[in-house]
Amino acid sequence: MSRADRPIGVFDSGIGGLTVIHALRQMLPQEELVYLGDTARLPYGTKSHHTIERYTLQMGELLQRHDPKLIVIACNTASAHGLPALQAVSPCPVIGVIEPGAEAAAEHGGPVGIIGTLATVGSAAYDLAIHRRDPAKAIHSVACPLLVPLAEEGWFDDPVTDSICRRYLNQLPFEVKTVVLGCTHYPTLLPSLERCRPGTRWIDSGRVTARAVDRLLQGSLGYRTASARGGLRIQLTDASSRLKEVGSRFLEEPLGDVEVVEI
Ligand code: DGL
Repeated sequence: MSRADRPIGVFDSGIGGLTVIHALRQMLPQEELVYLGDTARLPYGTKSHHTIERYTLQMGELLQRHDPKLIVIACNTASAHGLPALQAVSPCPVIGVIEPGAEAAAEHGGPVGIIGTLATVGSAAYDLAIHRRDPAKAIHSVACPLLVPLAEEGWFDDPVTDSICRRYLNQLPFEVKTVVLGCTHYPTLLPSLERCRPGTRWIDSGRVTARAVDRLLQGSLGYRTASARGGLRIQLTDASSRLKEVGSRFLEEPLGDVEVVEI
């Protein structure tokens, strides 16, 4: 099989990365996708650098079974802690969500807000990536650990979610008008976030990553040659009872068959 026709491998700590799959399927419908979610060991967002890096390397190795032309780390936390280690050993190119999100944030004037897991915010990966592009940019980061469980519960239109979002977002100075959604789950909470901070420019790191993938395919990696819609293969390290319900919410379409793989 030619390189262009090989699948794109995408991995996340769980099923939140299906928001990135949704963006990829919208932008590049003909591409074949393999999704690997580490549902047995999530969340990554509360773990240490060493553990997240180790898990990232293991997920990258599992994806190699599919001989991908490219690996996308959909998870912000794994991108923040494990990207350089995986890039150093992977036989195929690997990209994360931080660089595309930082690039989009740096394009806009004024201070930038970053919201993400404890581990993503603690890594300062977004700060470093934005400052490489604009050293003078003011950046304000807020860790929002309660937002992942709220998104998984599907509490999208709920006063409890609004109140928690408001409490986190109020930590950002008033002048912040651009905020990076630095976590796979946050795009699903957009209505609530917008209610708490109307008129904000929200940067969906998954959506801008799909654009970065498109640029890579346009270059040396190449688009899949078949014009038919590409398939989506979903592999998880554990299958919970609520998987279909929660996964379909992130994917914005019914979740098909799921395979369970051993780590
Ligand atoms: N996927 C993670 C991220 O984007 C959120 C869930 C977790 O903590 O594992 O940072």
